[in-house]
Amino acid sequence: MDLIVLSLVLLVLFLALCIFAFSRRSDNGVKLPPGSFGWPIMGETIEFLFGKPENFVGDRMKKYSPDIFKTHILGEKTAVICGPNGHKFLFSNEQKLFTAFRPHPMQKLFRSYQTQSSAPAPQTTRNDETKVIRSPGFLKPEALVRYLGKMDSITQQQLQTSWEGRDEIKAFPLCKTITLTLACRFFLGIDNPERIAGLVSNFDDITLGMHSITLNIPGTIFYRANKAATAIRKELLAVIKEKKTAMATGAPMQDILSHMIVASDPSGRFMPEAEIADKIMGLLTAGYSTVATTMTLFMKYVGERPDIYKKVLEEQLEVSASKKTGELLEWDDMQKMKYSWNVICEVMRFNPPLQGTFREALTDFTYAGYTIPKGWKVYWTVSTTNMNPEYFREAEKFNPSRYDEGDVSIPYTYVPFGGGPRMCPGKEYARLAILTFVHNVVKKFNWELMVPNEKIIGDMMPSPEKGLPIRLHPH
Ligand code: HEM
Repeated sequence: MDLIVLSLVLLVLFLALCIFAFSRRSDNGVKLPPGSFGWPIMGETIEFLFGKPENFVGDRMKKYSPDIFKTHILGEKTAVICGPNGHKFLFSNEQKLFTAFRPHPMQKLFRSYQTQSSAPAPQTTRNDETKVIRSPGFLKPEALVRYLGKMDSITQQQLQTSWEGRDEIKAFPLCKTITLTLACRFFLGIDNPERIAGLVSNFDDITLGMHSITLNIPGTIFYRANKAATAIRKELLAVIKEKKTAMATGAPMQDILSHMIVASDPSGRFMPEAEIADKIMGLLTAGYSTVATTMTLFMKYVGERPDIYKKVLEEQLEVSASKKTGELLEWDDMQKMKYSWNVICEVMRFNPPLQGTFREALTDFTYAGYTIPKGWKVYWTVSTTNMNPEYFREAEKFNPSRYDEGDVSIPYTYVPFGGGPRMCPGKEYARLAILTFVHNVVKKFNWELMVPNEKIIGDMMPSPEKGLPIRLHPH
């Protein structure tokens, strides 16, 4: 009898062990990362999109592993690689273990040329796509030096026409207009950016739609984003045609759009107009909400902290004092804005303008003792390190001086622009645009927040709930 009981107990234990082992292994016997694929079809997409990003990763890092966990989001089996070691591993293995992957909503919003072009489908890989943006060097410091004066004068002009003489403004929409005006000038080479700036709300819709469920029916976020993409594409195609006409007359062109028009691949093929429009739309979108949000949240955090405002103003007045009246900003001036940049870094640590991005595994690989099969998607996000007290002393405290005090010394803990070969190509451009704004806005105004503790909404892309209404006090 005892023997029968013992055999039954052993059998139950054996079955339990098998179930446990099975749940940790895939069909072909590899040890997958711990985690859950969530619901059938939807996986954990709802939690990913609509829960706080730091909670999504934080909860799972606690529950499964601080290094890596699996999930199923935006239609893909995904491994989330966490912490500074995860960031380092990911950034160091670009094109060895990983290649870039755009989630499905992004593919659908930005790839119209693949289905609509009458020309054969372009063989442009994601790497070629990036080269187009990176190689001409429009976004590199050497080129940006030339833009700087113009950046300064456009910013001054924007503040003059839309901020000066008004007691109360909403900062967010006005920061968006400044950002888009700058982008239109430098990416498209158009000086009358009103036509594109008029599309601000369309860019907002696209930004939201990039991380959404691809349900294309009226009323959904994705439907609105799709309509917005069509409107922008139409306007961009018109701009491209005008630009081609102007270029035919020999007018000198020094913008990314003109470069894309004349660039050909090794077989001599020029980029179809629809493809150019999509790439430019991608660039405008990548550089639009990130910069506008950072400018706006600078106004928020500094509006809450007169001590920080005072230090930023002192720094900026010092920059001005070293210049002749009316002289525009130059490269050396920007290098003097160290404290102001620290403030911006702290703004981005609290509210990352971009949470993270996806890659695709080019081959099976092992990380932290787990195997990630070829074809799985890999996600990294700043939220696994940004607010972690292990890496940032008093992480909840807004303290711009931490960047001077050696507090941020562990590599790969603070990576708002990513890292490695895919690091944001717009980083320097963003730094200059944001600091130019800071320089001009603090010199002209002090301000007071009209909604104290205004909530920041938008889980993947942060924004102030009421558009950050402020009361301006000109100097
Ligand atoms: C505060 C502003 C910005 C932040 C925080 C930011 C952040 C990022 C991050 C985290 C990535 C992903 C890097 C990776 O996958 O490893 C990225 C990629 C990218 N960013 Fe930015 N960005 C900003 C502004 C800009 C601007 C102004 C532009 C355009 C001029 C831009 C263009 C791009 C492009 C084209 C990519 C994709 C690069 C690729 O896949 O190889 N970004 N950015």
